[in-house]
Amino acid sequence: MSDKQNPVEEHKFWPTQPVAHDSKSGPRQILDIKKEEVAKKAIPTPVYLKFDTIDYNVQEKLQELTEYLANNYVGDSKGKSRFGYSYEFMHWWLSSQSNNISVGLRVTHTSPDLSEEQKLLIADLKEGELVGYISGVPMTYQYNSLKSVGQSVDFLCVHHALRTQNIAPLLIQEITRRSYKQGIFTAVFTAAFTAKQENPTIPRMLVSQYYHRLLNPVKLAQCKFAQKPHQMSERDFEFHYKLPYVQTTKQKNFRLSTKADSEQILSLLTSYQEQNYKVQQHFDIKLFQKMFRNIENVIQCFVYEFQGKIIGFCSFYVVDTQMLDPEINKYHKFIRNGYFYHYAVAQGQTEIDLQQMMTMLMHEMKKAKVDVCTCLDICKNRELIEKLQMDGGDGRLSYHTFNLDWGTELKHEDLGIVLV
Ligand SMILES: CC(C)(COP(=O)(O)OP(=O)(O)OC[C@H]1O[C@@H](n2cnc3c(N)ncnc32)[C@H](O)[C@@H]1OP(=O)(O)O)[C@@H](O)C(=O)NCCC(=O)NCCS
Repeated sequence: MSDKQNPVEEHKFWPTQPVAHDSKSGPRQILDIKKEEVAKKAIPTPVYLKFDTIDYNVQEKLQELTEYLANNYVGDSKGKSRFGYSYEFMHWWLSSQSNNISVGLRVTHTSPDLSEEQKLLIADLKEGELVGYISGVPMTYQYNSLKSVGQSVDFLCVHHALRTQNIAPLLIQEITRRSYKQGIFTAVFTAAFTAKQENPTIPRMLVSQYYHRLLNPVKLAQCKFAQKPHQMSERDFEFHYKLPYVQTTKQKNFRLSTKADSEQILSLLTSYQEQNYKVQQHFDIKLFQKMFRNIENVIQCFVYEFQGKIIGFCSFYVVDTQMLDPEINKYHKFIRNGYFYHYAVAQGQTEIDLQQMMTMLMHEMKKAKVDVCTCLDICKNRELIEKLQMDGGDGRLSYHTFNLDWGTELKHEDLGIVLV
């Protein structure tokens, strides 16, 4: 196709940012930043916007954030569904690191310099209303030989009324500034829009696909998430997705984790990451205990204990999808998603394998009223997808790094990082 038929997209922001990839080099930080030279003041905003810190410790602010995301965060293109991250979920995620960065943008009508165009743009927004958000939670990542603390950047969201005004770059630049000030110079994030681009503006570590295992197939079909074959009865459809039986002897060794298990699990998880992935995620004991504590409807963690030793660990987190289509909402307000989070099995033993353990995890999801189990085809998930009767979804997500070139090419099974 000629350039005329397929015009090159114009990108103003990303070409100015430290995002690059040289597959022949090893992993490296792109820009060398001096903490002392980072601007002390927030980056300039248009006169109708001001930054605010959304402190998860302030209940009203976290509640406001939860509602804002429920109304404005990722949804389907037809406006029939949207993620609904819960208050408890956001609290869990942000509180896992006390040096998290949680940046909001609020509207202000008070500036004398507002243009007529700007007044019109914000006319329907209340004074002080939250209209933008981004968060960062520092984590330790390792890219082959390079180990560093990087921000896990998530929840980038601009209010519907202010889209395509170049507000996302404000949030990205401000979180970058705040992060550099803390001495954290790299980041990892995911994006859906670059997964569709042929020549992405931001180099991709990889593009991953969503996979789903129906746990509540009839509800999922009623919500138009899944399709029941016409000729199949609801009963047969349920039966088709009945979870495989797990031997009672195995089931007996599988239980919710407790704080007392932390040291053992962490050591298992760390060796699993080291043995299996080129891009790894590491936790110290303090962070591990904060992130992997059981919180109903947020995160559930399980261990497989055999002869007094923990040889398996797995976890899932819960996010609801709100049903916005009035016809569906009459019957179902949301679909509950259970996402595979981190897992590990001890090497060199034959007692439990990943497939058996994750099947038990799915049974636990079902008990927790999860409607669909979801994962990306990263980590060791590709080994599991077919065996666990998971179907490929429409969704694609790219993994990216900021101010860090990850170096040599990656395969899906090399990536051990899970973002929420
Ligand atoms: C994604 C979203 C934040 C974009 O906000 P916006 O202010 O309307 O952004 P704009 O369309 O004006 O784009 C401005 C720049 O931000 C970039 N951008 C857009 N979405 C981005 C994303 N998810 N991650 C990183 N950069 C993004 C654009 O590419 C553009 O840069 P470019 O000129 O170099 O191409 C907004 O559409 C939104 O809140 N959507 C719902 C939530 C969501 O999808 N969040 C992202 C989760 S992955």
